[in-house]
Amino acid sequence: MTQDLQAVATSLVSGGKGILAADETVGTLTRRFTALDIPSTEESRCTYRQMLFTAPGVGAWISGAIMHDETIRQRGSSGVPLPRMLQDAGVLPGIKVDAGAKPLAGSPGETVTEGLDGLRDRLVEYRQLGARFAKWRAVIRIGAGLPTDACVSANAHALARYAALCQEQQLVPIVEPEVLMEGSHSLERCEEVTGSVLHAVFNALFEQGVLLEGMLLKPNMVVPGQESPKPASVEEVANATLHCLRRHVPATVPGIVFLSGGQDAGQATIHLDAINRLPGAKPWAISFSYGRALQDPALAAWRGRNDNLAAGAEALSRRARCNSAASLGSYTDGMEKAPVGSAESRAQREMQDD
Ligand code: 13P
Repeated sequence: MTQDLQAVATSLVSGGKGILAADETVGTLTRRFTALDIPSTEESRCTYRQMLFTAPGVGAWISGAIMHDETIRQRGSSGVPLPRMLQDAGVLPGIKVDAGAKPLAGSPGETVTEGLDGLRDRLVEYRQLGARFAKWRAVIRIGAGLPTDACVSANAHALARYAALCQEQQLVPIVEPEVLMEGSHSLERCEEVTGSVLHAVFNALFEQGVLLEGMLLKPNMVVPGQESPKPASVEEVANATLHCLRRHVPATVPGIVFLSGGQDAGQATIHLDAINRLPGAKPWAISFSYGRALQDPALAAWRGRNDNLAAGAEALSRRARCNSAASLGSYTDGMEKAPVGSAESRAQREMQDD
């Protein structure tokens, strides 16, 4: 059993592959659709997710995809359940299981992620629906006097309780403590906060008996705040990020898969590549679990139109291929232009024929 967890965790970060985070809530995906005048219905959200999951060659670069509760229950245009479509493409199905970041009592401006109540039963069901791994996102804000110790410890504790429950149900937990990019803080302040958050998270994981070999860490990169007066170079980001991770992430964790957190798609690829090119020991695989940085170009190419499905899928494949190369430190500019294969998947052709 323990070996299964280790095998799944390792396979998610092996062979230059990474994870597609496609688990936006209905509200978040609707906001992204509305910004491009795409109507958000159960059907349009299903079509969009199917386009991503059946993109040409996706299984060559993507090891797993994280779904939302709505998605894991949906069937594609051919009647095949979406988790099944992922499996057919060689991609492991994953599921977001937290109930979102809610205001933390007594700490204005801060949140604690909820969703532990009834989690065991939900995990049992998700596993039956095909999930092999799960995700829980905690959110930490940097600001004047923030984060508070109360916020960091409440979120670390919840992440560890979630991770222990996942492993009990044979699901690999992705542990995601996200230090937000919002704010005017410096690179150094981001490193300091990220370090103390990771310290608290691994302390809590140890207390709750979580098997580190059977989990993945999904952290932010160390970057200055979006409104910081002092931007950082690619090298500075890569050095600060790896320095912070080396200090705080045990070597037994098989993989670190970054979130993109609001970096634009190209920047997220370049930073990942630079981190992997740095010399010195890297005891874990370092890859990606991007949401916006993988999906934004695909969403913009699709725009809700059936005749753009192939273009949207190709845009996803391109970002997946570039990030796969970056996870091996072998990304080059030329990959942005080279064709990724124009073969349409069967599912896309069927949708266009409708
Ligand atoms: P972004 O890459 O858009 O930050 O999303 C990753 C994610 O899964 C957030 O929970």
